[in-house]
Amino acid sequence: MYIPEEKISEILNTSDIVDIVSESVILKQSGRNFFGLCPFHTEKTPSFSVNPDKQIFHCFGCSSGGNALSFVMKYHGISFPEAVRMLARKYNVVIETELIDPIKRKHVLVKESLFRLNKKIMTFYAEFLGDGSAGDAAINYLKKRGMTTEIIEKFHLGVSHDMWDAAVNFLKKEKVTRQVAINSGLILPKKQGTGYYDRFRNRLMFPIFDINMQVAGFGGRVMDDAMPKYMNSPETPIYSKSRILYGLHAAKQYCRQEGIVHIVEGYFDFLSLYQHGVKNTVASLGTALTQEQVRILKGYASKMILVFDSDDAGINAAKRSIQIFVKEGVDIRILVLPDKNDPDSFIMKHGQASFKSHAGQAKTIMQFLLELAIDTHGLAVEGRIKILDEMKQHLALIQDSALRSLYVRELAETLNIDEKAVLEKVKDAYVQKNTKRSFLMTEPKNNEILVSDPREKQILSIMLNYPELIPDVVEKNVLSCFYSKRFQEIAKKIIATKSVNDGFITNVMAKIDDDKDQELIASLAMDDFSGNDNLGKATDVLMNRIIKIRKKNENILTTKIISAEKGFDTDVTELLKKKQQEIQQLHDSQQL
Ligand code: GTP
Ligand code: MN
Repeated sequence: MYIPEEKISEILNTSDIVDIVSESVILKQSGRNFFGLCPFHTEKTPSFSVNPDKQIFHCFGCSSGGNALSFVMKYHGISFPEAVRMLARKYNVVIETELIDPIKRKHVLVKESLFRLNKKIMTFYAEFLGDGSAGDAAINYLKKRGMTTEIIEKFHLGVSHDMWDAAVNFLKKEKVTRQVAINSGLILPKKQGTGYYDRFRNRLMFPIFDINMQVAGFGGRVMDDAMPKYMNSPETPIYSKSRILYGLHAAKQYCRQEGIVHIVEGYFDFLSLYQHGVKNTVASLGTALTQEQVRILKGYASKMILVFDSDDAGINAAKRSIQIFVKEGVDIRILVLPDKNDPDSFIMKHGQASFKSHAGQAKTIMQFLLELAIDTHGLAVEGRIKILDEMKQHLALIQDSALRSLYVRELAETLNIDEKAVLEKVKDAYVQKNTKRSFLMTEPKNNEILVSDPREKQILSIMLNYPELIPDVVEKNVLSCFYSKRFQEIAKKIIATKSVNDGFITNVMAKIDDDKDQELIASLAMDDFSGNDNLGKATDVLMNRIIKIRKKNENILTTKIISAEKGFDTDVTELLKKKQQEIQQLHDSQQL
Protein backbone atom coordinates (compact mmCIF):
# COMPACT_ATOMS: atom_id res chain seq x y z
CA MET A 1 0.00 0.00 0.00
CA TYR A 2 1.15 3.49 -0.77
CA ILE A 3 1.89 5.41 2.41
CA PRO A 4 1.80 9.21 2.34
CA GLU A 5 5.00 11.00 3.28
CA GLU A 6 3.36 12.90 6.13
CA LYS A 7 2.45 9.61 7.75
CA ILE A 8 6.03 8.46 7.64
CA SER A 9 7.10 11.73 9.23
CA GLU A 10 4.44 11.35 11.87
CA ILE A 11 5.61 7.87 12.73
CA LEU A 12 9.23 8.94 12.90
CA ASN A 13 8.35 11.88 15.08
CA THR A 14 6.28 9.92 17.57
CA SER A 15 8.50 6.88 17.81
CA ASP A 16 11.63 6.71 19.89
CA ILE A 17 14.64 4.92 18.49
CA VAL A 18 16.12 4.09 21.89
CA ASP A 19 12.86 2.45 22.80
CA ILE A 20 12.75 0.48 19.56
CA VAL A 21 16.37 -0.65 19.54
CA SER A 22 16.20 -1.60 23.23
CA GLU A 23 13.74 -4.32 22.35
CA SER A 24 16.48 -6.17 20.51
CA VAL A 25 19.80 -4.79 21.77
CA ILE A 26 21.00 -4.21 25.32
CA LEU A 27 21.91 -0.53 25.45
CA LYS A 28 24.01 1.35 27.98
CA GLN A 29 24.07 5.12 28.13
CA SER A 30 27.36 6.91 27.79
CA GLY A 31 27.14 10.68 27.50
CA ARG A 32 24.37 11.64 25.10
CA ASN A 33 24.58 8.35 23.22
CA PHE A 34 23.66 4.77 23.96
CA PHE A 35 25.96 1.89 23.12
CA GLY A 36 25.46 -1.82 22.60
CA LEU A 37 26.64 -4.86 20.68
CA CYS A 38 25.83 -4.47 17.00
CA PRO A 39 23.07 -6.84 15.84
CA PHE A 40 24.33 -6.61 12.26
CA HIS A 41 27.82 -7.97 12.70
CA THR A 42 29.65 -10.10 15.22
CA GLU A 43 31.54 -8.15 17.82
CA LYS A 44 32.72 -8.43 21.39
CA THR A 45 32.99 -4.77 22.36
CA PRO A 46 30.09 -2.41 21.63
CA SER A 47 30.52 -0.14 18.63
CA PHE A 48 26.83 0.17 17.88
CA SER A 49 25.51 3.55 18.96
CA VAL A 50 22.10 5.13 19.19
CA ASN A 51 21.66 8.86 19.37
CA PRO A 52 18.34 9.90 20.89
CA ASP A 53 18.69 13.58 19.92
CA LYS A 54 19.12 12.77 16.27
CA GLN A 55 16.97 9.63 16.42
CA ILE A 56 19.49 7.58 14.49
CA PHE A 57 21.72 4.56 14.97
CA HIS A 58 25.19 4.02 13.61
CA CYS A 59 27.69 1.22 13.99
CA PHE A 60 31.31 2.31 14.03
CA GLY A 61 32.29 -1.28 13.28
CA CYS A 62 30.26 -2.26 10.24
CA SER A 63 28.99 1.23 9.35
CA SER A 64 25.38 0.15 9.21
CA GLY A 65 23.12 3.00 10.19
CA GLY A 66 19.81 4.70 9.73
CA ASN A 67 16.68 5.79 11.53
CA ALA A 68 14.03 3.89 13.46
CA LEU A 69 12.43 2.58 10.30
CA SER A 70 15.65 1.35 8.78
CA PHE A 71 16.52 -0.36 12.04
CA VAL A 72 13.25 -2.27 12.08
CA MET A 73 13.61 -3.21 8.42
CA LYS A 74 17.16 -4.42 8.83
CA TYR A 75 16.66 -6.19 12.11
CA HIS A 76 13.51 -8.06 11.15
CA GLY A 77 14.40 -8.37 7.50
CA ILE A 78 11.12 -6.79 6.43
CA SER A 79 10.15 -4.34 3.73
CA PHE A 80 9.67 -0.62 4.15
CA PRO A 81 5.85 -0.68 4.17
CA GLU A 82 5.90 -3.50 6.68
CA ALA A 83 8.25 -1.57 8.93
CA VAL A 84 6.03 1.48 8.67
CA ARG A 85 3.02 -0.56 9.64
CA MET A 86 4.84 -2.23 12.50
CA LEU A 87 5.83 1.09 14.05
CA ALA A 88 2.44 2.60 13.30
CA ARG A 89 0.82 -0.18 15.32
CA LYS A 90 3.28 0.24 18.15
CA TYR A 91 2.74 4.00 18.42
CA ASN A 92 -0.95 4.04 17.54
CA VAL A 93 -0.56 6.03 14.36
CA VAL A 94 -3.48 5.41 12.03
CA ILE A 95 -2.57 4.90 8.40
CA GLU A 96 -5.39 5.45 5.96
CA THR A 97 -4.92 3.00 3.17
CA GLU A 98 -6.32 5.44 0.69
CA LEU A 99 -4.31 5.57 -2.46
CA ILE A 100 -3.55 8.79 -4.15
CA ASP A 101 -2.14 8.05 -7.55
CA PRO A 102 -4.69 5.97 -9.50
CA ILE A 103 -2.05 4.22 -11.61
CA LYS A 104 -0.02 3.29 -8.57
CA ARG A 105 -3.23 2.20 -6.93
CA LYS A 106 -4.01 -0.12 -9.80
CA HIS A 107 -0.56 -1.70 -9.72
CA VAL A 108 -0.78 -2.25 -6.00
CA LEU A 109 -4.22 -3.79 -6.26
CA VAL A 110 -3.15 -6.15 -9.04
CA LYS A 111 -0.21 -7.31 -6.96
CA GLU A 112 -2.29 -7.78 -3.87
CA SER A 113 -4.85 -9.87 -5.67
CA LEU A 114 -2.10 -12.03 -7.18
CA PHE A 115 -0.57 -12.62 -3.77
CA ARG A 116 -3.98 -13.54 -2.38
CA LEU A 117 -4.64 -15.93 -5.22
CA ASN A 118 -1.23 -17.59 -4.90
CA LYS A 119 -1.75 -18.12 -1.22
CA LYS A 120 -5.09 -19.77 -1.85
CA ILE A 121 -3.79 -22.06 -4.54
CA MET A 122 -0.82 -22.94 -2.37
CA THR A 123 -3.24 -24.20 0.26
CA PHE A 124 -5.22 -25.99 -2.44
CA TYR A 125 -2.08 -27.90 -3.53
CA ALA A 126 -0.96 -28.57 0.03
CA GLU A 127 -4.39 -29.96 0.94
CA PHE A 128 -4.33 -32.18 -2.09
CA LEU A 129 -0.99 -33.56 -0.92
CA GLY A 130 -2.54 -34.52 2.40
CA ASP A 131 -5.65 -35.86 0.71
CA GLY A 132 -5.31 -39.60 1.21
CA SER A 133 -4.87 -41.68 -1.91
CA ALA A 134 -4.50 -38.78 -4.34
CA GLY A 135 -1.53 -37.33 -2.50
CA ASP A 136 0.04 -40.62 -1.50
CA ALA A 137 2.22 -40.94 -4.57
CA ALA A 138 3.59 -37.48 -3.95
CA ILE A 139 4.13 -38.10 -0.24
CA ASN A 140 5.95 -41.30 -1.12
CA TYR A 141 8.13 -39.45 -3.56
CA LEU A 142 9.00 -36.84 -0.94
CA LYS A 143 9.74 -39.51 1.66
CA LYS A 144 11.91 -41.35 -0.83
CA ARG A 145 13.87 -38.14 -1.22
CA GLY A 146 14.29 -37.92 2.53
CA MET A 147 12.01 -34.97 3.24
CA THR A 148 10.58 -34.82 6.76
CA THR A 149 6.99 -33.87 7.52
CA GLU A 150 8.33 -30.80 9.26
CA ILE A 151 10.05 -29.57 6.11
CA ILE A 152 7.05 -30.40 3.93
CA GLU A 153 4.87 -28.30 6.19
CA LYS A 154 7.29 -25.47 6.80
CA PHE A 155 7.79 -24.88 3.09
CA HIS A 156 4.15 -25.59 2.25
CA LEU A 157 4.94 -28.22 -0.35
CA GLY A 158 2.00 -29.56 -2.29
CA VAL A 159 0.99 -31.44 -5.39
CA SER A 160 -1.01 -30.30 -8.40
CA HIS A 161 -3.85 -32.44 -9.73
CA ASP A 162 -3.47 -34.85 -12.58
CA MET A 163 -6.05 -32.91 -14.58
CA TRP A 164 -6.18 -30.17 -17.21
CA ASP A 165 -8.64 -27.96 -15.40
CA ALA A 166 -8.23 -28.29 -11.64
CA ALA A 167 -6.67 -24.83 -11.27
CA VAL A 168 -9.01 -23.43 -13.92
CA ASN A 169 -12.02 -24.61 -11.94
CA PHE A 170 -10.51 -23.47 -8.67
CA LEU A 171 -10.06 -19.96 -10.04
CA LYS A 172 -13.65 -19.99 -11.32
CA LYS A 173 -14.94 -21.10 -7.95
CA GLU A 174 -12.94 -18.38 -6.23
CA LYS A 175 -14.42 -15.84 -8.68
CA VAL A 176 -10.98 -14.65 -9.70
CA THR A 177 -11.23 -12.15 -12.54
CA ARG A 178 -10.00 -13.24 -15.94
CA GLN A 179 -7.22 -10.68 -15.92
CA VAL A 180 -5.86 -11.76 -12.53
CA ALA A 181 -6.14 -15.41 -13.53
CA ILE A 182 -4.10 -14.89 -16.69
CA ASN A 183 -1.61 -12.64 -14.89
CA SER A 184 -0.97 -15.33 -12.33
CA GLY A 185 0.62 -17.70 -14.83
CA LEU A 186 -1.28 -20.58 -13.27
CA ILE A 187 -3.35 -21.16 -16.38
CA LEU A 188 -2.68 -20.87 -20.10
CA PRO A 189 -4.96 -20.21 -23.08
CA LYS A 190 -5.69 -23.34 -25.09
CA LYS A 191 -3.81 -23.51 -28.36
CA GLN A 192 -6.89 -24.70 -30.16
CA GLY A 193 -10.40 -23.50 -29.50
CA THR A 194 -11.24 -21.32 -26.56
CA GLY A 195 -10.71 -21.63 -22.85
CA TYR A 196 -7.76 -22.29 -20.60
CA TYR A 197 -5.80 -25.17 -19.12
CA ASP A 198 -3.59 -25.70 -16.06
CA ARG A 199 0.11 -24.94 -16.31
CA PHE A 200 1.02 -27.29 -13.46
CA ARG A 201 -0.37 -30.82 -13.71
CA ASN A 202 0.57 -33.74 -11.51
CA ARG A 203 3.67 -32.04 -10.26
CA LEU A 204 5.18 -31.66 -6.85
CA MET A 205 4.59 -28.01 -6.05
CA PHE A 206 7.09 -25.69 -4.39
CA PRO A 207 5.65 -22.30 -3.45
CA ILE A 208 8.26 -19.60 -3.91
CA PHE A 209 8.07 -16.98 -1.17
CA ASP A 210 9.40 -13.48 -1.49
CA ILE A 211 11.28 -11.77 1.27
CA ASN A 212 8.06 -10.57 2.86
CA MET A 213 6.73 -14.12 3.13
CA GLN A 214 4.25 -13.67 0.33
CA VAL A 215 3.82 -16.37 -2.30
CA ALA A 216 5.30 -14.89 -5.46
CA GLY A 217 5.23 -17.96 -7.68
CA PHE A 218 5.64 -21.72 -7.93
CA GLY A 219 8.01 -24.38 -9.10
CA GLY A 220 6.71 -27.80 -10.06
CA ARG A 221 8.63 -31.05 -10.41
CA VAL A 222 7.50 -34.20 -12.15
CA MET A 223 7.60 -37.32 -10.02
CA ASP A 224 8.98 -39.55 -12.74
CA ASP A 225 11.40 -39.12 -15.62
CA ALA A 226 9.10 -37.01 -17.75
CA MET A 227 10.30 -33.78 -19.29
CA PRO A 228 10.62 -30.98 -18.49
CA LYS A 229 11.75 -32.02 -15.03
CA TYR A 230 10.98 -28.65 -13.52
CA MET A 231 8.57 -25.94 -14.49
CA ASN A 232 8.44 -22.50 -12.90
CA SER A 233 5.92 -19.68 -12.89
CA PRO A 234 6.47 -17.23 -15.75
CA GLU A 235 7.37 -13.61 -15.08
CA THR A 236 4.37 -11.94 -13.45
CA PRO A 237 3.88 -8.58 -11.74
CA ILE A 238 4.96 -10.29 -8.50
CA TYR A 239 7.46 -12.87 -9.77
CA SER A 240 10.74 -11.89 -11.30
CA LYS A 241 13.24 -14.64 -12.02
CA SER A 242 16.18 -12.29 -11.86
CA ARG A 243 15.38 -11.23 -8.31
CA ILE A 244 13.92 -14.25 -6.61
CA LEU A 245 15.97 -16.51 -4.35
CA TYR A 246 14.23 -19.62 -3.15
CA GLY A 247 14.30 -20.00 0.61
CA LEU A 248 15.60 -16.54 1.47
CA HIS A 249 12.49 -15.78 3.53
CA ALA A 250 13.40 -18.61 5.89
CA ALA A 251 17.18 -18.35 5.63
CA LYS A 252 17.70 -14.64 6.07
CA GLN A 253 18.04 -14.61 9.83
CA TYR A 254 20.62 -17.42 9.70
CA CYS A 255 22.55 -15.68 6.94
CA ARG A 256 22.79 -12.60 9.15
CA GLN A 257 23.85 -14.59 12.17
CA GLU A 258 26.64 -16.38 10.35
CA GLY A 259 27.57 -13.66 7.90
CA ILE A 260 27.69 -16.40 5.28
CA VAL A 261 25.21 -17.61 2.70
CA HIS A 262 25.42 -20.84 0.72
CA ILE A 263 24.08 -20.52 -2.80
CA VAL A 264 22.78 -23.73 -4.34
CA GLU A 265 20.94 -24.42 -7.56
CA GLY A 266 17.83 -26.40 -6.82
CA TYR A 267 14.78 -26.76 -4.60
CA PHE A 268 15.88 -30.09 -3.17
CA ASP A 269 19.40 -28.82 -2.59
CA PHE A 270 17.97 -26.04 -0.49
CA LEU A 271 15.49 -28.19 1.39
CA SER A 272 18.01 -30.91 2.20
CA LEU A 273 20.61 -28.48 3.50
CA TYR A 274 17.97 -26.70 5.54
CA GLN A 275 16.68 -29.96 6.95
CA HIS A 276 20.21 -30.91 7.97
CA GLY A 277 20.69 -27.64 9.80
CA VAL A 278 22.59 -25.73 7.13
CA LYS A 279 19.93 -23.05 7.20
CA ASN A 280 21.95 -20.17 5.82
CA THR A 281 21.24 -21.26 2.28
CA VAL A 282 19.31 -20.02 -0.75
CA ALA A 283 18.64 -21.54 -4.16
CA SER A 284 19.13 -19.59 -7.37
CA LEU A 285 16.67 -21.86 -9.26
CA GLY A 286 18.42 -21.77 -12.52
CA THR A 287 21.97 -21.52 -13.45
CA ALA A 288 23.77 -18.19 -13.58
CA LEU A 289 23.14 -15.75 -10.79
CA THR A 290 22.11 -12.21 -11.61
CA GLN A 291 23.59 -9.01 -10.28
CA GLU A 292 20.30 -8.22 -8.58
CA GLN A 293 20.33 -11.52 -6.73
CA VAL A 294 23.87 -10.91 -5.53
CA ARG A 295 22.94 -7.40 -4.41
CA ILE A 296 19.99 -8.73 -2.47
CA LEU A 297 22.17 -11.32 -0.77
CA LYS A 298 24.73 -8.70 0.15
CA GLY A 299 22.14 -7.31 2.53
CA TYR A 300 22.28 -10.55 4.49
CA ALA A 301 25.83 -11.83 4.33
CA SER A 302 29.18 -10.54 3.24
CA LYS A 303 30.61 -13.94 2.45
CA MET A 304 29.02 -16.25 -0.09
CA ILE A 305 29.73 -19.86 -0.86
CA LEU A 306 28.67 -20.99 -4.28
CA VAL A 307 27.79 -24.67 -4.11
CA PHE A 308 27.19 -25.57 -7.71
CA ASP A 309 26.93 -29.01 -9.21
CA SER A 310 30.24 -30.35 -10.36
CA ASP A 311 28.87 -31.19 -13.81
CA ASP A 312 29.82 -29.04 -16.79
CA ALA A 313 26.65 -26.97 -16.63
CA GLY A 314 27.30 -26.20 -12.99
CA ILE A 315 30.90 -25.26 -13.58
CA ASN A 316 29.98 -23.02 -16.48
CA ALA A 317 27.32 -21.37 -14.37
CA ALA A 318 29.87 -20.78 -11.63
CA LYS A 319 32.26 -19.26 -14.15
CA ARG A 320 29.59 -16.94 -15.45
CA SER A 321 28.64 -15.82 -11.96
CA ILE A 322 32.19 -14.98 -10.99
CA GLN A 323 32.33 -11.65 -12.80
CA ILE A 324 29.27 -10.50 -10.93
CA PHE A 325 30.76 -11.37 -7.58
CA VAL A 326 34.01 -9.65 -8.41
CA LYS A 327 32.15 -6.58 -9.58
CA GLU A 328 30.07 -6.50 -6.43
CA GLY A 329 33.14 -6.92 -4.25
CA VAL A 330 31.80 -9.99 -2.50
CA ASP A 331 34.02 -12.45 -0.65
CA ILE A 332 33.04 -15.46 -2.71
CA ARG A 333 34.14 -19.06 -2.34
CA ILE A 334 33.38 -21.91 -4.66
CA LEU A 335 32.61 -25.34 -3.37
CA VAL A 336 32.78 -28.24 -5.76
CA LEU A 337 31.52 -31.34 -4.02
CA PRO A 338 33.34 -34.61 -4.62
CA ASP A 339 32.11 -37.53 -6.71
CA LYS A 340 29.66 -35.61 -8.86
CA ASN A 341 27.38 -34.98 -5.92
CA ASP A 342 24.97 -32.10 -5.78
CA PRO A 343 24.39 -30.49 -2.36
CA ASP A 344 21.25 -32.58 -1.82
CA SER A 345 22.82 -35.94 -2.55
CA PHE A 346 25.97 -35.02 -0.66
CA ILE A 347 24.34 -34.03 2.61
CA MET A 348 21.91 -36.95 2.46
CA LYS A 349 24.88 -39.32 2.20
CA HIS A 350 27.46 -37.65 4.40
CA GLY A 351 25.58 -35.40 6.81
CA GLN A 352 25.99 -31.89 8.10
CA ALA A 353 29.45 -32.11 9.63
CA SER A 354 31.03 -33.34 6.45
CA PHE A 355 29.27 -30.69 4.39
CA LYS A 356 30.45 -27.96 6.73
CA SER A 357 34.00 -29.15 6.64
CA HIS A 358 33.98 -29.11 2.85
CA ALA A 359 32.37 -25.66 2.87
CA GLY A 360 35.11 -24.44 5.17
CA GLN A 361 37.63 -25.42 2.54
CA ALA A 362 35.78 -23.95 -0.41
CA LYS A 363 38.13 -22.47 -2.97
CA THR A 364 38.72 -18.84 -3.77
CA ILE A 365 37.77 -17.78 -7.28
CA MET A 366 41.36 -17.78 -8.44
CA GLN A 367 42.09 -21.22 -7.03
CA PHE A 368 38.96 -22.49 -8.71
CA LEU A 369 39.74 -20.96 -12.08
CA LEU A 370 43.34 -22.02 -11.88
CA GLU A 371 42.45 -25.62 -11.18
CA LEU A 372 40.00 -25.58 -14.06
CA ALA A 373 42.64 -24.17 -16.39
CA ILE A 374 45.15 -26.77 -15.23
CA ASP A 375 42.60 -29.51 -15.87
CA THR A 376 42.05 -28.18 -19.38
CA HIS A 377 45.58 -27.31 -20.48
CA GLY A 378 47.88 -29.42 -18.31
CA LEU A 379 51.13 -28.26 -16.79
CA ALA A 380 53.49 -28.85 -19.70
CA VAL A 381 55.24 -25.73 -21.03
CA GLU A 382 52.61 -24.93 -23.65
CA GLY A 383 49.83 -25.58 -21.19
CA ARG A 384 51.38 -23.24 -18.68
CA ILE A 385 51.55 -20.43 -21.21
CA LYS A 386 47.90 -20.97 -22.11
CA ILE A 387 46.93 -20.98 -18.47
CA LEU A 388 48.79 -17.74 -17.92
CA ASP A 389 46.98 -16.17 -20.87
CA GLU A 390 43.65 -17.25 -19.50
CA MET A 391 44.34 -16.22 -15.94
CA LYS A 392 45.71 -12.79 -16.75
CA GLN A 393 42.27 -11.79 -17.99
CA HIS A 394 40.67 -12.80 -14.72
CA LEU A 395 43.37 -11.17 -12.64
CA ALA A 396 43.09 -7.91 -14.52
CA LEU A 397 39.49 -7.68 -13.37
CA ILE A 398 40.42 -7.50 -9.70
CA GLN A 399 40.33 -3.91 -8.52
CA ASP A 400 42.00 -4.46 -5.17
CA SER A 401 45.73 -4.28 -5.90
CA ALA A 402 46.81 -6.07 -2.71
CA LEU A 403 44.53 -8.97 -3.51
CA ARG A 404 45.70 -8.98 -7.09
CA SER A 405 49.37 -9.25 -6.19
CA LEU A 406 48.56 -12.07 -3.80
CA TYR A 407 47.00 -14.04 -6.63
CA VAL A 408 49.80 -13.14 -8.97
CA ARG A 409 52.26 -14.67 -6.55
CA GLU A 410 50.12 -17.78 -6.17
CA LEU A 411 49.83 -18.14 -9.92
CA ALA A 412 53.57 -17.63 -10.42
CA GLU A 413 54.32 -20.32 -7.87
CA THR A 414 51.86 -22.82 -9.29
CA LEU A 415 53.06 -22.33 -12.84
CA ASN A 416 56.67 -22.04 -11.80
CA ILE A 417 57.04 -18.86 -13.79
CA ASP A 418 58.89 -15.79 -12.57
CA GLU A 419 56.53 -13.50 -10.63
CA LYS A 420 57.70 -10.45 -12.57
CA ALA A 421 56.81 -12.08 -15.86
CA VAL A 422 53.34 -12.92 -14.59
CA LEU A 423 52.91 -9.39 -13.37
CA GLU A 424 53.89 -8.01 -16.77
CA LYS A 425 51.28 -10.16 -18.47
CA VAL A 426 48.60 -9.06 -16.05
CA LYS A 427 49.56 -5.44 -16.55
CA ASP A 428 49.23 -5.88 -20.31
CA ALA A 429 45.78 -7.31 -19.87
CA TYR A 430 44.90 -4.55 -17.46
CA VAL A 431 46.03 -1.83 -19.83
CA GLN A 432 44.25 -3.45 -22.76
CA LYS A 433 41.06 -3.62 -20.77
CA ASN A 434 41.28 -0.10 -19.54
CA THR A 435 42.53 1.83 -22.53
CA LYS A 436 39.14 1.45 -24.10
CA ARG A 437 37.31 2.58 -21.05
CA SER A 438 39.66 4.96 -19.39
CA PHE A 439 43.04 6.25 -20.31
CA LEU A 440 43.26 7.86 -16.90
CA MET A 441 44.32 4.52 -15.57
CA THR A 442 47.30 4.36 -17.90
CA GLU A 443 48.77 7.59 -16.61
CA PRO A 444 48.31 7.48 -12.89
CA LYS A 445 51.14 9.97 -12.30
CA ASN A 446 49.03 12.81 -13.54
CA ASN A 447 47.75 14.00 -10.20
CA GLU A 448 47.61 17.74 -10.63
CA ILE A 449 43.85 17.39 -10.62
CA LEU A 450 42.26 16.54 -7.34
CA VAL A 451 39.91 13.61 -7.76
CA SER A 452 38.25 13.36 -4.39
CA ASP A 453 37.26 16.22 -2.16
CA PRO A 454 36.45 15.33 1.45
CA ARG A 455 35.04 18.81 1.92
CA GLU A 456 31.89 17.89 0.03
CA LYS A 457 31.14 15.30 2.68
CA GLN A 458 31.81 17.80 5.44
CA ILE A 459 29.25 20.16 3.96
CA LEU A 460 26.63 17.40 4.10
CA SER A 461 27.55 16.70 7.67
CA ILE A 462 27.14 20.34 8.64
CA MET A 463 23.79 20.59 6.87
CA LEU A 464 22.55 17.57 8.77
CA ASN A 465 23.74 18.63 12.18
CA TYR A 466 23.11 22.37 11.84
CA PRO A 467 20.04 22.84 9.62
CA GLU A 468 20.13 26.52 10.52
CA LEU A 469 23.19 26.80 8.26
CA ILE A 470 21.38 25.34 5.25
CA PRO A 471 20.23 28.73 3.94
CA ASP A 472 23.91 29.80 3.75
CA VAL A 473 24.75 26.69 1.76
CA VAL A 474 21.89 27.37 -0.62
CA GLU A 475 22.83 30.98 -1.04
CA LYS A 476 26.45 30.19 -1.84
CA ASN A 477 25.31 27.72 -4.49
CA VAL A 478 28.19 25.48 -3.49
CA LEU A 479 26.32 22.34 -4.54
CA SER A 480 26.80 23.20 -8.18
CA CYS A 481 30.53 22.89 -7.53
CA PHE A 482 30.29 19.39 -6.05
CA TYR A 483 32.07 16.77 -8.08
CA SER A 484 30.04 14.02 -6.53
CA LYS A 485 26.61 13.69 -8.08
CA ARG A 486 25.67 11.41 -5.23
CA PHE A 487 26.47 14.02 -2.59
CA GLN A 488 24.70 16.61 -4.67
CA GLU A 489 21.53 14.54 -4.71
CA ILE A 490 21.71 13.90 -0.98
CA ALA A 491 22.26 17.59 -0.33
CA LYS A 492 19.18 18.41 -2.39
CA LYS A 493 17.13 16.04 -0.29
CA ILE A 494 18.44 17.61 2.89
CA ILE A 495 17.43 21.02 1.60
CA ALA A 496 14.00 19.74 0.66
CA THR A 497 13.38 18.46 4.20
CA LYS A 498 11.30 20.73 6.36
CA SER A 499 13.15 21.70 9.49
CA VAL A 500 11.36 20.19 12.44
CA ASN A 501 12.78 20.59 15.90
CA ASP A 502 14.05 17.13 16.81
CA GLY A 503 13.29 14.90 13.90
CA PHE A 504 15.32 16.60 11.19
CA ILE A 505 17.85 13.88 10.42
CA THR A 506 15.40 11.06 10.67
CA ASN A 507 13.09 12.94 8.31
CA VAL A 508 15.91 13.39 5.84
CA MET A 509 16.44 9.66 5.98
CA ALA A 510 12.81 9.04 5.20
CA LYS A 511 13.45 10.66 1.83
CA ILE A 512 16.37 8.34 1.03
CA ASP A 513 15.73 4.94 -0.52
CA ASP A 514 19.25 3.73 -0.96
CA ASP A 515 20.70 1.70 1.94
CA LYS A 516 24.21 2.93 1.39
CA ASP A 517 23.04 6.54 1.36
CA GLN A 518 21.16 6.00 4.60
CA GLU A 519 24.23 4.56 6.21
CA LEU A 520 26.32 7.45 4.99
CA ILE A 521 23.88 9.93 6.48
CA ALA A 522 23.88 8.12 9.79
CA SER A 523 27.64 8.18 9.95
CA LEU A 524 27.81 11.86 8.96
CA ALA A 525 25.17 12.69 11.51
CA MET A 526 27.38 11.27 14.22
CA ASP A 527 30.07 13.87 13.49
CA ASP A 528 30.75 16.10 16.43
CA PHE A 529 31.37 19.77 15.78
CA SER A 530 31.05 20.88 19.37
CA GLY A 531 34.72 21.92 19.50
CA ASN A 532 34.13 24.52 16.82
CA ASP A 533 33.00 27.81 18.30
CA ASN A 534 32.29 29.57 15.02
CA LEU A 535 30.86 26.97 12.73
CA GLY A 536 29.21 29.53 10.49
CA LYS A 537 32.58 31.00 9.64
CA ALA A 538 34.24 27.60 9.27
CA THR A 539 31.51 26.54 6.88
CA ASP A 540 32.02 29.63 4.82
CA VAL A 541 35.74 28.91 4.53
CA LEU A 542 34.99 25.33 3.57
CA MET A 543 32.57 26.35 0.85
CA ASN A 544 35.00 28.90 -0.56
CA ARG A 545 37.63 26.19 -0.85
CA ILE A 546 35.29 23.89 -2.74
CA ILE A 547 34.32 26.62 -5.16
CA LYS A 548 37.91 27.71 -5.67
CA ILE A 549 39.20 24.21 -6.31
CA ARG A 550 36.51 23.47 -8.81
CA LYS A 551 37.25 26.69 -10.67
CA LYS A 552 40.98 26.01 -10.64
CA ASN A 553 40.59 22.49 -12.00
CA GLU A 554 38.28 23.67 -14.69
CA ASN A 555 40.74 26.38 -15.66
CA ILE A 556 43.63 23.95 -15.98
CA LEU A 557 41.62 21.76 -18.27
CA THR A 558 40.18 24.54 -20.34
CA THR A 559 43.59 26.07 -20.84
CA LYS A 560 44.92 22.72 -21.97
CA ILE A 561 42.03 22.18 -24.33
CA ILE A 562 42.44 25.63 -25.82
CA SER A 563 46.15 25.28 -26.35
CA ALA A 564 45.65 21.85 -27.83
CA GLU A 565 43.06 23.20 -30.22
CA LYS A 566 45.39 25.99 -31.20
CA GLY A 567 48.05 23.49 -32.10
CA PHE A 568 45.47 21.52 -34.14
CA ASP A 569 46.28 18.59 -32.01
CA THR A 570 42.83 17.11 -32.27
CA ASP A 571 43.77 13.89 -30.59
CA VAL A 572 44.83 15.74 -27.51
CA THR A 573 41.70 17.84 -27.63
CA GLU A 574 39.52 14.80 -27.74
CA LEU A 575 41.51 13.21 -24.98
CA LEU A 576 41.23 16.22 -22.74
CA LYS A 577 37.53 16.55 -23.26
CA LYS A 578 37.18 12.92 -22.47
CA LYS A 579 39.32 13.41 -19.45
CA GLN A 580 37.07 16.14 -18.20
CA GLN A 581 34.15 13.72 -18.40
CA GLU A 582 36.14 10.98 -16.80
CA ILE A 583 37.12 13.05 -13.84
CA GLN A 584 33.45 13.59 -13.27
CA GLN A 585 32.77 9.86 -13.53
CA LEU A 586 35.68 8.99 -11.31
CA HIS A 587 34.31 11.32 -8.70
CA ASP A 588 30.97 9.64 -8.91
CA SER A 589 32.39 6.16 -8.62
CA GLN A 590 34.86 6.96 -5.86
CA GLN A 591 32.20 8.33 -3.66
CA LEU A 592 30.31 5.07 -3.57
P1 GTP B 1 16.42 -33.00 -8.54
O1 GTP B 1 16.61 -33.96 -9.66
O2 GTP B 1 15.00 -32.85 -8.17
O3 GTP B 1 17.34 -33.23 -7.39
O4 GTP B 1 16.77 -31.60 -9.11
P2 GTP B 1 18.13 -30.88 -9.14
O5 GTP B 1 17.90 -29.60 -8.45
O6 GTP B 1 19.24 -31.72 -8.67
O7 GTP B 1 18.21 -30.74 -10.70
P3 GTP B 1 19.11 -29.94 -11.63
O8 GTP B 1 20.50 -29.85 -11.12
O9 GTP B 1 18.87 -30.60 -12.93
O10 GTP B 1 18.45 -28.50 -11.65
C1 GTP B 1 18.73 -27.47 -10.74
C2 GTP B 1 17.63 -26.47 -10.77
O11 GTP B 1 17.48 -25.95 -12.08
C3 GTP B 1 16.28 -27.05 -10.43
O12 GTP B 1 16.01 -27.07 -9.07
C4 GTP B 1 15.35 -26.10 -11.17
O13 GTP B 1 15.13 -24.92 -10.45
C5 GTP B 1 16.12 -25.78 -12.42
N1 GTP B 1 15.72 -26.72 -13.50
C6 GTP B 1 16.17 -27.97 -13.72
N2 GTP B 1 15.57 -28.53 -14.78
C7 GTP B 1 14.73 -27.61 -15.25
C8 GTP B 1 13.80 -27.59 -16.34
O14 GTP B 1 13.63 -28.55 -17.07
N3 GTP B 1 13.10 -26.43 -16.53
C9 GTP B 1 13.26 -25.35 -15.73
N4 GTP B 1 12.54 -24.24 -15.96
N5 GTP B 1 14.10 -25.35 -14.68
C10 GTP B 1 14.84 -26.45 -14.44
MN1 MN C 1 19.41 -33.00 -7.18
